[in-house]
Amino acid sequence: MNDSTYGGGSVAGDPGDYFPHQPVLYQEVLDSLAPESGKAYLDGTLGAGGHAEGILQASAPQGRLLGLDLDPDALAIARQRLLGFKNRVIIRQASYQYADEILEEIGWNRVARILLDLGVSSMQLDQPHRGFSFRHEGALDMRFNPEVGSSAADLINKLSEEALADIIYKYGEERYARRIARAIVGARPIRSSQTLAALIEETLPRYEAHLHPATRTFQALRIATNQELEAIAAALPKLVKSLAPGGRIAVISFHSLEDRIVKQFFARESRDCICPPEQPICTCDHVAILKVLTKKPVRPTELEIKANPRSRSAKLRVAEKTSLA
Ligand SMILES: C[S@@+](CC[C@H](N)C(=O)[O-])C[C@H]1O[C@@H](n2cnc3c(N)ncnc32)[C@H](O)[C@@H]1O
Repeated sequence: MNDSTYGGGSVAGDPGDYFPHQPVLYQEVLDSLAPESGKAYLDGTLGAGGHAEGILQASAPQGRLLGLDLDPDALAIARQRLLGFKNRVIIRQASYQYADEILEEIGWNRVARILLDLGVSSMQLDQPHRGFSFRHEGALDMRFNPEVGSSAADLINKLSEEALADIIYKYGEERYARRIARAIVGARPIRSSQTLAALIEETLPRYEAHLHPATRTFQALRIATNQELEAIAAALPKLVKSLAPGGRIAVISFHSLEDRIVKQFFARESRDCICPPEQPICTCDHVAILKVLTKKPVRPTELEIKANPRSRSAKLRVAEKTSLA
């Protein structure tokens, strides 16, 4: 666990000075995607469009980009920001899980590069009514798309104590999950972010000097509310199918749970045999379709972390498609 973002707070700087979210590992993403004119790009987590803008600038005059996000507010900002690229951009409200269907619908077949910059944006954290941050008073919503599905408040007010504890333990890696779940069930209904944060603060000793006691629980509720880990696991094989041979996929993750899924997927798909090591003869017929380009994940520099503390836990992994599959 290392997602330290739940306090919120965006930092100005270049690029994206005038936008409420500073793209993380910006230059590193552009270097690894190496955009060129004439190619098709997919940004599956468009956010405020910072990375997308960089890709479109670097792939002028004829690079085209499909940008997806679940969040209508993010899409409105990105639309405005990318207006100047005219018909080189298509923007849709959708989960990256369904990128293959949208690519088919717009007749793009396969793309040359894919970017996923996972998780929550600074602007989502800074909008009190979204309920992502324990520092602002707001309804405990936490949905990336506030029009669909159950909110975090629905989860914490309806789930059994055991199910809640499991979520907080599994997705927040919170060792006091049972204690927190018991306190939540005792105080229900809980509808606001500050009520929940205060309850956790009362319930837990301050056991980590640099982390608010509610950080892990907020991360867990956000992941559960949006079924984030399921989305990544389901999307990766489909996204690689949508990638042209020689194409690249880059994923930025912000905590160990999502990074593990990406790392294991890349490792598995870069091996010709995935039989158990003790098996003497290969029977799996598995064929490698990826080459991992980042043996170790790329991390932000000290300079970036200083300018944008939210980047602190970011890890970028990049792989290249080697086959026609
Ligand atoms: C860290 S931000 C991306 C920031 C963006 N790269 C930029 O430069 O502004 C992550 C975005 O992913 C979106 N998101 C999360 N899960 C998603 C999903 N399954 N499909 C599409 N977008 C998703 C969030 O709504 C959020 O806007």
